[in-house]
Amino acid sequence: MKVLITGGAGFLGNKLAIALSKKGSCADATGHQVAIDEIVMLDHVEARIVPEGCRSVIGDVADPDVLESVIDEDTAVVFHLAAVVSGEAEENFDLGMRVNLDATRLILERCRSLRTRPKVLFASSVAAFGPEDGAITGKTPNRPLTSYGTQKAIAELLLNDYARKGFIQGIAFRLPTVVVRPGRPNRAASSFASSILREPLSGQKMTCPVRRDVGVWLTSPRSIVSAFIHGADLDLEKLGNWRTLNLPGLTVSLEEMVEALIRKGGDANLISWELDPAVQKIVDTWPVAFETPEATALGFVTDNSIDDVIDIFLTEDL
Ligand SMILES: NC(=O)c1ccc[n+]([C@@H]2O[C@H](COP(=O)([O-])OP(=O)(O)OC[C@H]3O[C@@H](n4cnc5c(N)ncnc54)[C@H](O)[C@@H]3O)[C@@H](O)[C@H]2O)c1
Repeated sequence: MKVLITGGAGFLGNKLAIALSKKGSCADATGHQVAIDEIVMLDHVEARIVPEGCRSVIGDVADPDVLESVIDEDTAVVFHLAAVVSGEAEENFDLGMRVNLDATRLILERCRSLRTRPKVLFASSVAAFGPEDGAITGKTPNRPLTSYGTQKAIAELLLNDYARKGFIQGIAFRLPTVVVRPGRPNRAASSFASSILREPLSGQKMTCPVRRDVGVWLTSPRSIVSAFIHGADLDLEKLGNWRTLNLPGLTVSLEEMVEALIRKGGDANLISWELDPAVQKIVDTWPVAFETPEATALGFVTDNSIDDVIDIFLTEDL
């Protein structure tokens, strides 16, 4: 079988490629593990790491010809992670619509045209929700207040409909903010949630653009990679007609993150606080409290504590 990871050069896509290459197999429609012959990593930039058994393809995920070349009858699983992140999608409406929405529909259409019903696992986001009173549950409606969240919510609905119609097998995961992202800050409005740990742990200064009492619904990259691999092994046909899942996470305030940083030997004096109203405005639209019994019942897990999340960064990425 062949596997496609869109956004394969990105933070999570690259880690997923590494983990899948190590695992070497995925469940087929009958639940049996089948060896992966090839993992195609599609991205418009070069992947930093191309693990054994993987092939890096440079191309535009919103180009139908590119999709035709990377999804064929042998493609059993598509992990669709390519995206324009929140800050950029808010600034560049056309780009966000093209990559976050149009490309998703093209992927679903390509899969439908093959009549092989591949599994499609889509990385949605908690940004698909707006601010709500009380905890978000599996039944909370999508009321996003950003273009990124709107694009993700529409893409989720499309995936659900393609799966309901039997064109694909599918599941959409609403990811919490994934912390700690290695490397440089990106253009996600949530970038501060990683920077506030990563920079001080690397001995660098960091300016936090939001208030200390801001809470973040977060999880580690290790948990997300495990969720995608676990999801691909599930019998997606048993999910019923609603195939969008809020993944488990932890609610942690920035204040609590700073306390954990100090426990792990980081220097909190490297952090300065300078409110950026534009970032604060986006962050204010994100919910921070979730109940995820549906995901837990299906075997999805998160980390035990923010200290564990930091340890994963220290051992795997720093
Ligand atoms: N990291 C998080 O905290 C988080 C939280 C919620 C949801 N998500 C979602 O998870 C997915 C992966 O996130 P990430 O943090 O790895 O993001 P990332 O930005 O590191 O990776 C996305 C990749 O998509 C690629 N890409 C963008 N436009 C493309 C195009 N036109 N053609 C081909 N490739 C293109 C980028 O080059 C990048 O490598 C995204 O869909 C994101 O929306 C991430």
